[in-house]
Amino acid sequence: MLGMVKRFYSVIGERGGEHVVRTSLRRGYWLFAGYVLVERASDALRKAGPSASDIGALVDVALTFNEKNIGIAPTQKKEEIEGLLNVVGAAKPKTVLEIGTSQGGTLFLFTRVVGDDALLITVDLPSPPLGAGYLPWRAKLYRSFTVGKQRIQLIRSDSHSAQTMSQVLGLLGTRKVDFLFIDGDHSYEGVKNDFEMYSPLVAAGGIVAFHDIVPGRPEDVGGVPRFWNEVKGRSGSQEFVKSIDQGGCGIGVLRL
Ligand SMILES: C[S@@+](CC[C@H](N)C(=O)[O-])C[C@H]1O[C@@H](n2cnc3c(N)ncnc32)[C@H](O)[C@@H]1O
Repeated sequence: MLGMVKRFYSVIGERGGEHVVRTSLRRGYWLFAGYVLVERASDALRKAGPSASDIGALVDVALTFNEKNIGIAPTQKKEEIEGLLNVVGAAKPKTVLEIGTSQGGTLFLFTRVVGDDALLITVDLPSPPLGAGYLPWRAKLYRSFTVGKQRIQLIRSDSHSAQTMSQVLGLLGTRKVDFLFIDGDHSYEGVKNDFEMYSPLVAAGGIVAFHDIVPGRPEDVGGVPRFWNEVKGRSGSQEFVKSIDQGGCGIGVLRL
């Protein structure tokens, strides 16, 4: 609490009171307007979503969808996420675990290429002001992504906590994870922890993918490139990288 108050006054000092009032009004608007608009956005997305047979069109929808200023853009490069979706689509996983839900872009894309009875679990931090995750009304939009008999479970807590792990285990029951996507805490310790905690839940032959394996600005890629360098030597590893000079992004895939 004290930290939040200090941050509030330091932002006023840095950017002025007017900025703070405008930002607060915008945040306040979205906190409530989202509840009204989310149904409309879910319907529009359902109508816009092309079939999984056209991965390029699917990714275009995710990147450009905008209904009343509600978008789901994944923080991914088109060519790279298409490469991953082709791998995942061929494997047709029945159980998916994603660390890092954010605007729901990759979650949406995964629903379109996995089995139509798949269980998808996605983890992100709690909502602001207590956490840095997505606004609460977005949960309704994310649950509407399902096709067929799919189920989506949203976990709102730190992926590194024991409580999150026990929630994941409770949801999995006797299932193993067929596809684990790690795109949450990008610090070296963060990505390493996610891998060490959740990869033992992955089935033999299952897929583990990491985003941001290409070196770039530390605030974007953190320690992911370093961690990827340590694990990429395993057999069957694969990289989807548009350009090695792009600074950030890039997807690394392991087969366990
Ligand atoms: C790069 S975004 C994920 C983007 C998303 N996969 C996509 O492309 O559509 C990273 C997300 O990880 C979340 N995150 C960061 N640290 C986390 C942690 N320790 N536990 C859970 N989520 C975390 C952030 O809140 C953020 O929403």
